[in-house]
Amino acid sequence: MTKAAVPLIFGNTQGYKLNSMRMKDAEFEYLTHLAFKQSGIVISEAKRDMLYGRVMKRIRHLRLNGFVSYCQLLQDSYSGEVSEFINAITTNLTAFFREDHHFDFLQKVALPHFKRHNVDKKLRIWSAGCSTGQEPYSIAMSIERKLQNWDAKILATDLDSDVLSLAHHGIYDDLSGIPVAYRSQYCSDIDKYHQYMMDTKIRQLIAFKQLNLLAVWPMTGRFDAIFCRNVLIYFNDETKRALVKRFYSLLKPGGYLFIGHSESLQGFNTHFTLVGQTVYQR
Ligand SMILES: C[S@@+](CC[C@H](N)C(=O)[O-])C[C@H]1O[C@@H](n2cnc3c(N)ncnc32)[C@H](O)[C@@H]1O
Repeated sequence: MTKAAVPLIFGNTQGYKLNSMRMKDAEFEYLTHLAFKQSGIVISEAKRDMLYGRVMKRIRHLRLNGFVSYCQLLQDSYSGEVSEFINAITTNLTAFFREDHHFDFLQKVALPHFKRHNVDKKLRIWSAGCSTGQEPYSIAMSIERKLQNWDAKILATDLDSDVLSLAHHGIYDDLSGIPVAYRSQYCSDIDKYHQYMMDTKIRQLIAFKQLNLLAVWPMTGRFDAIFCRNVLIYFNDETKRALVKRFYSLLKPGGYLFIGHSESLQGFNTHFTLVGQTVYQR
């Protein structure tokens, strides 16, 4: 991750108590500006406590004496702290079959559409902002049985390297949301602590990769469906608009875009058609 071009404002620590754990306005502004530059995530004044709590965890972990030292560390390009900071500020809330109407739509509307149109029996789905993996695994469970002998692949990406590592391992202790029939087919109890591992059958459908939605996307081929759910909500309108435009150009004609329950493309003047509850078609 590149170092953000943000103003250096922490050269003079005079006036700060060394052991103070206060986050002053200057530090708040520096951190929110850095978060925005690096990830597009907007941290408003209303989320000040959230930012404080997340950064305090890093400060304690690093045994630093406060926010000034932490901001100084962020400016040291050799420290590698910027990616840790970004990992700390992302919100990774997710669940298996979250917003289950999307998985109904996928099975009842989108899959029949792909079966009619994809004569090459090839399917490409992107889970953009996949967090700890429940979303791509839910997609995989929904399609595995129905696309036998298809070349189906799910690309699952996130900015946060910590969640990606969990997603890649595919081990969960909470399977809530997964329909009982899928649990017995795709989840194996791996130890006495009731940890469950996703089966190879569905793991091999998914490729997990780190990708910042704000950066260049290395993918060349187009997708049949893009899930970018509960991610846009953290961005400002300008970032949302630019991303939706990029999603449009990366979808095949007739491809679907799934967004989160509190998100909408209204007012973005896109060429998408609303075809379901927070489901759009190119
Ligand atoms: C709330 S989770 C949503 C997870 C899943 N899509 C769902 O709906 O359950 C939002 C995810 O977006 C990721 N994210 C935030 N900014 C990002 C960016 N600029 N590029 C890629 N991922 C980002 C976060 O790391 C986080 O894992």
